[in-house]
Amino acid sequence: MTRLDRVEQTPGRLAGPPLTPRTAVIWSVLRAELERRAGTALTVLDVGGGTGGFAVPLAQAGHRVTVVDASPDALAALTRRAAEAGVAERVRAVQGDGDALAGLVEPGSADLVLCHAVLEVVDDPAAVVAALAAALRPGGAASVLVANRAAAVLGRAMNGHLDVAAALAADPAGTAGTRDTLRRRYDADGAAALLTAAGLVVEQIHGVRVLADLLPAAVADGQPAALVELERALAARAPWRDLAAQLHLFARRP
Ligand SMILES: C[S@@+](CC[C@H](N)C(=O)[O-])C[C@H]1O[C@@H](n2cnc3c(N)ncnc32)[C@H](O)[C@@H]1O
Repeated sequence: MTRLDRVEQTPGRLAGPPLTPRTAVIWSVLRAELERRAGTALTVLDVGGGTGGFAVPLAQAGHRVTVVDASPDALAALTRRAAEAGVAERVRAVQGDGDALAGLVEPGSADLVLCHAVLEVVDDPAAVVAALAAALRPGGAASVLVANRAAAVLGRAMNGHLDVAAALAADPAGTAGTRDTLRRRYDADGAAALLTAAGLVVEQIHGVRVLADLLPAAVADGQPAALVELERALAARAPWRDLAAQLHLFARRP
Protein backbone atom coordinates (compact mmCIF):
# COMPACT_ATOMS: atom_id res chain seq x y z
CA MET A 1 0.00 0.00 0.00
CA THR A 2 1.43 3.41 -0.95
CA ARG A 3 1.04 6.50 1.13
CA LEU A 4 -1.52 7.73 -1.40
CA ASP A 5 -3.75 4.82 -0.43
CA ARG A 6 -3.74 5.75 3.23
CA VAL A 7 -5.19 9.25 3.07
CA GLU A 8 -8.13 9.96 5.40
CA GLN A 9 -11.26 7.86 4.98
CA THR A 10 -14.70 9.06 3.94
CA PRO A 11 -16.92 9.66 6.96
CA GLY A 12 -20.44 8.34 7.36
CA ARG A 13 -22.05 5.28 5.90
CA LEU A 14 -19.56 5.07 3.07
CA ALA A 15 -16.71 4.46 5.48
CA GLY A 16 -14.49 2.30 3.34
CA PRO A 17 -13.13 3.93 0.21
CA PRO A 18 -9.62 5.29 0.47
CA LEU A 19 -9.45 8.83 -0.87
CA THR A 20 -6.65 8.93 -3.39
CA PRO A 21 -6.06 11.42 -6.21
CA ARG A 22 -7.52 8.74 -8.50
CA THR A 23 -10.75 8.35 -6.58
CA ALA A 24 -11.47 11.30 -4.28
CA VAL A 25 -13.38 13.43 -6.78
CA ILE A 26 -15.46 10.48 -7.99
CA TRP A 27 -16.35 9.44 -4.44
CA SER A 28 -17.38 13.04 -3.64
CA VAL A 29 -19.88 12.94 -6.49
CA LEU A 30 -21.10 9.44 -5.64
CA ARG A 31 -21.37 10.21 -1.94
CA ALA A 32 -23.71 13.13 -2.70
CA GLU A 33 -25.97 10.79 -4.68
CA LEU A 34 -25.90 8.16 -1.92
CA GLU A 35 -26.74 10.82 0.65
CA ARG A 36 -29.62 12.01 -1.53
CA ARG A 37 -31.01 8.45 -1.34
CA ALA A 38 -29.98 7.90 2.30
CA GLY A 39 -31.75 4.99 3.97
CA THR A 40 -32.31 3.16 0.67
CA ALA A 41 -30.32 0.09 -0.32
CA LEU A 42 -29.58 0.91 -3.94
CA THR A 43 -29.29 -1.48 -6.86
CA VAL A 44 -25.95 -0.71 -8.47
CA LEU A 45 -24.51 -1.97 -11.75
CA ASP A 46 -20.75 -1.58 -12.31
CA VAL A 47 -19.81 -2.28 -15.92
CA GLY A 48 -16.14 -3.16 -16.26
CA GLY A 49 -15.95 -2.94 -12.48
CA GLY A 50 -12.82 -5.07 -12.42
CA THR A 51 -11.62 -6.12 -8.99
CA GLY A 52 -14.23 -4.10 -7.11
CA GLY A 53 -12.49 -0.86 -6.14
CA PHE A 54 -15.89 0.82 -6.22
CA ALA A 55 -18.20 -2.19 -5.92
CA VAL A 56 -16.90 -3.43 -2.57
CA PRO A 57 -17.09 -0.08 -0.72
CA LEU A 58 -20.60 0.42 -2.14
CA ALA A 59 -21.60 -3.03 -0.88
CA GLN A 60 -20.03 -2.20 2.50
CA ALA A 61 -22.30 0.86 2.57
CA GLY A 62 -25.30 -1.49 2.25
CA HIS A 63 -25.98 -1.42 -1.49
CA ARG A 64 -26.40 -4.40 -3.83
CA VAL A 65 -23.84 -4.35 -6.61
CA THR A 66 -23.64 -6.37 -9.81
CA VAL A 67 -20.27 -6.20 -11.53
CA VAL A 68 -20.20 -7.10 -15.23
CA ASP A 69 -16.66 -7.59 -16.46
CA ALA A 70 -15.01 -9.42 -19.34
CA SER A 71 -12.12 -10.73 -17.24
CA PRO A 72 -12.55 -13.92 -15.19
CA ASP A 73 -9.37 -13.06 -13.27
CA ALA A 74 -10.70 -9.65 -12.29
CA LEU A 75 -13.99 -11.21 -11.19
CA ALA A 76 -12.18 -13.85 -9.12
CA ALA A 77 -10.27 -11.07 -7.35
CA LEU A 78 -13.54 -9.17 -6.86
CA THR A 79 -15.18 -12.22 -5.30
CA ARG A 80 -12.24 -12.71 -2.91
CA ARG A 81 -12.22 -9.04 -1.99
CA ALA A 82 -15.98 -9.03 -1.34
CA ALA A 83 -15.67 -12.14 0.86
CA GLU A 84 -12.78 -10.63 2.84
CA ALA A 85 -14.87 -7.48 3.37
CA GLY A 86 -17.82 -9.59 4.56
CA VAL A 87 -20.15 -8.42 1.78
CA ALA A 88 -20.15 -11.43 -0.54
CA GLU A 89 -23.95 -11.68 -0.41
CA ARG A 90 -24.32 -8.13 -1.76
CA VAL A 91 -21.86 -8.44 -4.65
CA ARG A 92 -22.72 -10.38 -7.80
CA ALA A 93 -20.02 -11.07 -10.36
CA VAL A 94 -21.16 -11.58 -13.95
CA GLN A 95 -18.71 -12.39 -16.69
CA GLY A 96 -19.75 -10.64 -19.86
CA ASP A 97 -18.81 -8.22 -22.56
CA GLY A 98 -19.87 -4.63 -22.11
CA ASP A 99 -20.87 -4.65 -25.76
CA ALA A 100 -23.48 -7.29 -24.92
CA LEU A 101 -24.73 -5.45 -21.83
CA ALA A 102 -28.26 -5.07 -23.14
CA GLY A 103 -28.74 -8.85 -22.91
CA LEU A 104 -27.14 -9.16 -19.46
CA VAL A 105 -29.10 -6.73 -17.30
CA GLU A 106 -32.75 -6.17 -16.69
CA PRO A 107 -33.96 -2.88 -18.21
CA GLY A 108 -35.02 -0.19 -15.75
CA SER A 109 -33.60 -2.05 -12.76
CA ALA A 110 -30.62 0.00 -11.55
CA ASP A 111 -30.55 3.07 -9.30
CA LEU A 112 -26.92 3.73 -10.14
CA VAL A 113 -24.68 2.51 -12.94
CA LEU A 114 -20.91 2.88 -13.00
CA CYS A 115 -18.86 2.62 -16.17
CA HIS A 116 -15.32 3.65 -15.34
CA ALA A 117 -12.44 3.38 -17.80
CA VAL A 118 -14.32 1.06 -20.15
CA LEU A 119 -15.78 3.12 -23.00
CA GLU A 120 -12.23 3.57 -24.32
CA VAL A 121 -11.90 -0.14 -25.07
CA VAL A 122 -15.32 -1.48 -26.12
CA ASP A 123 -16.34 -2.04 -29.75
CA ASP A 124 -19.32 0.30 -29.75
CA PRO A 125 -19.39 2.93 -26.96
CA ALA A 126 -22.70 4.40 -28.14
CA ALA A 127 -24.37 1.00 -27.82
CA VAL A 128 -22.83 0.45 -24.38
CA VAL A 129 -24.05 3.84 -23.17
CA ALA A 130 -27.51 3.12 -24.59
CA ALA A 131 -27.52 -0.15 -22.61
CA LEU A 132 -26.36 1.69 -19.47
CA ALA A 133 -29.20 4.16 -19.88
CA ALA A 134 -31.70 1.37 -20.46
CA ALA A 135 -30.52 -0.43 -17.31
CA LEU A 136 -31.37 2.64 -15.21
CA ARG A 137 -34.77 3.20 -13.73
CA PRO A 138 -36.17 6.70 -14.40
CA GLY A 139 -34.37 9.04 -11.99
CA GLY A 140 -31.40 6.71 -11.73
CA ALA A 141 -27.87 8.02 -12.18
CA ALA A 142 -24.83 7.11 -14.26
CA SER A 143 -21.20 7.61 -13.26
CA VAL A 144 -18.98 7.47 -16.33
CA LEU A 145 -15.22 7.89 -16.37
CA VAL A 146 -13.30 8.26 -19.64
CA ALA A 147 -9.75 9.00 -20.72
CA ASN A 148 -9.12 12.63 -21.67
CA ARG A 149 -7.33 13.16 -24.95
CA ALA A 150 -5.75 16.50 -23.92
CA ALA A 151 -3.92 14.91 -20.99
CA ALA A 152 -2.63 12.11 -23.19
CA VAL A 153 -1.22 14.63 -25.69
CA LEU A 154 0.45 16.62 -22.90
CA GLY A 155 1.79 13.51 -21.21
CA ARG A 156 3.37 12.09 -24.38
CA ALA A 157 4.87 15.48 -25.27
CA MET A 158 6.32 16.01 -21.78
CA ASN A 159 7.95 12.59 -21.99
CA GLY A 160 9.62 13.64 -25.22
CA HIS A 161 7.39 11.64 -27.58
CA LEU A 162 6.41 14.54 -29.79
CA ASP A 163 5.50 12.32 -32.73
CA VAL A 164 3.07 10.33 -30.59
CA ALA A 165 1.64 13.54 -29.13
CA ALA A 166 1.08 14.88 -32.64
CA ALA A 167 -0.62 11.65 -33.73
CA LEU A 168 -2.88 11.70 -30.69
CA ALA A 169 -3.82 15.32 -31.27
CA ALA A 170 -4.61 14.73 -34.94
CA ASP A 171 -6.41 11.40 -34.76
CA PRO A 172 -10.22 11.82 -34.76
CA ALA A 173 -10.55 9.08 -32.11
CA GLY A 174 -7.70 10.43 -29.99
CA THR A 175 -5.46 7.40 -30.27
CA ALA A 176 -1.81 7.13 -31.18
CA GLY A 177 -2.25 4.36 -33.72
CA THR A 178 -2.35 0.59 -33.63
CA ARG A 179 0.04 0.24 -30.66
CA ASP A 180 -2.13 2.40 -28.42
CA THR A 181 -3.75 0.45 -25.59
CA LEU A 182 -6.94 2.52 -25.91
CA ARG A 183 -9.22 2.65 -28.92
CA ARG A 184 -10.42 6.18 -28.27
CA ARG A 185 -10.20 9.15 -25.93
CA TYR A 186 -12.64 11.96 -25.29
CA ASP A 187 -12.98 15.62 -24.50
CA ALA A 188 -15.71 16.90 -22.20
CA ASP A 189 -18.07 17.91 -25.03
CA GLY A 190 -17.67 14.63 -26.89
CA ALA A 191 -18.23 12.52 -23.79
CA ALA A 192 -21.26 14.58 -22.80
CA ALA A 193 -22.69 14.25 -26.31
CA LEU A 194 -22.34 10.47 -26.09
CA LEU A 195 -24.41 10.36 -22.91
CA THR A 196 -26.94 12.89 -24.15
CA ALA A 197 -27.52 10.87 -27.32
CA ALA A 198 -28.57 7.96 -25.09
CA GLY A 199 -31.21 10.12 -23.40
CA LEU A 200 -29.21 10.89 -20.25
CA VAL A 201 -29.01 14.38 -18.77
CA VAL A 202 -25.45 15.29 -17.82
CA GLU A 203 -25.46 17.02 -14.44
CA GLN A 204 -21.77 17.31 -13.60
CA ILE A 205 -18.40 16.94 -15.29
CA HIS A 206 -15.18 16.81 -13.28
CA GLY A 207 -11.55 16.31 -14.13
CA VAL A 208 -9.88 13.39 -12.34
CA ARG A 209 -6.10 13.41 -11.85
CA VAL A 210 -5.57 17.01 -12.94
CA LEU A 211 -2.10 17.07 -11.38
CA ALA A 212 -1.44 13.60 -10.01
CA ASP A 213 0.19 12.22 -13.16
CA LEU A 214 2.28 15.33 -13.75
CA LEU A 215 3.98 15.52 -10.37
CA PRO A 216 7.24 13.84 -9.41
CA ALA A 217 6.51 10.77 -7.29
CA ALA A 218 8.32 12.33 -4.33
CA VAL A 219 5.83 15.21 -4.30
CA ALA A 220 2.75 13.05 -4.85
CA ASP A 221 3.80 10.46 -2.27
CA GLY A 222 5.15 13.05 0.14
CA GLN A 223 2.01 15.19 0.40
CA PRO A 224 -0.92 12.88 -0.33
CA ALA A 225 -3.57 14.75 1.65
CA ALA A 226 -2.59 18.11 0.13
CA LEU A 227 -2.71 16.58 -3.34
CA VAL A 228 -6.19 15.16 -2.76
CA GLU A 229 -7.39 18.57 -1.59
CA LEU A 230 -5.85 20.30 -4.61
CA GLU A 231 -7.37 17.75 -6.99
CA ARG A 232 -10.75 18.41 -5.42
CA ALA A 233 -10.32 22.17 -5.65
CA LEU A 234 -9.40 22.09 -9.35
CA ALA A 235 -11.68 19.31 -10.58
CA ALA A 236 -14.63 21.40 -11.70
CA ARG A 237 -12.74 24.54 -12.75
CA ALA A 238 -11.53 25.71 -16.13
CA PRO A 239 -8.94 25.21 -17.48
CA TRP A 240 -7.87 22.51 -15.00
CA ARG A 241 -10.80 20.17 -15.56
CA ASP A 242 -10.09 19.89 -19.27
CA LEU A 243 -6.45 18.93 -18.72
CA ALA A 244 -7.14 16.08 -16.31
CA ALA A 245 -6.12 12.54 -17.17
CA GLN A 246 -9.74 11.43 -16.95
CA LEU A 247 -13.15 13.06 -17.20
CA HIS A 248 -15.91 12.02 -14.82
CA LEU A 249 -19.47 12.57 -16.00
CA PHE A 250 -22.44 12.22 -13.71
CA ALA A 251 -25.72 11.93 -15.59
CA ARG A 252 -29.30 11.02 -14.87
CA ARG A 253 -32.07 9.21 -16.72
CA PRO A 254 -35.05 11.60 -16.75
C1 LIG B 1 -9.07 -0.05 -16.68
S1 LIG B 1 -10.01 -1.30 -15.91
C2 LIG B 1 -11.13 -0.33 -14.93
C3 LIG B 1 -11.66 -1.07 -13.75
C4 LIG B 1 -12.61 -0.25 -12.86
N1 LIG B 1 -13.81 0.15 -13.61
C5 LIG B 1 -11.89 0.93 -12.29
O1 LIG B 1 -12.15 2.06 -12.72
O2 LIG B 1 -11.07 0.73 -11.39
C6 LIG B 1 -11.04 -1.83 -17.25
C7 LIG B 1 -11.92 -2.98 -16.85
O3 LIG B 1 -12.81 -3.21 -17.93
C8 LIG B 1 -12.84 -4.58 -18.23
N2 LIG B 1 -13.18 -4.69 -19.65
C9 LIG B 1 -12.38 -4.43 -20.70
N3 LIG B 1 -13.07 -4.60 -21.86
C10 LIG B 1 -14.32 -4.97 -21.49
C11 LIG B 1 -15.49 -5.28 -22.20
N4 LIG B 1 -15.52 -5.25 -23.54
N5 LIG B 1 -16.58 -5.62 -21.51
C12 LIG B 1 -16.58 -5.65 -20.14
N6 LIG B 1 -15.50 -5.36 -19.43
C13 LIG B 1 -14.39 -5.02 -20.08
C14 LIG B 1 -11.46 -5.10 -17.89
O4 LIG B 1 -11.48 -6.49 -17.61
C15 LIG B 1 -11.14 -4.29 -16.65
O5 LIG B 1 -11.60 -4.91 -15.47
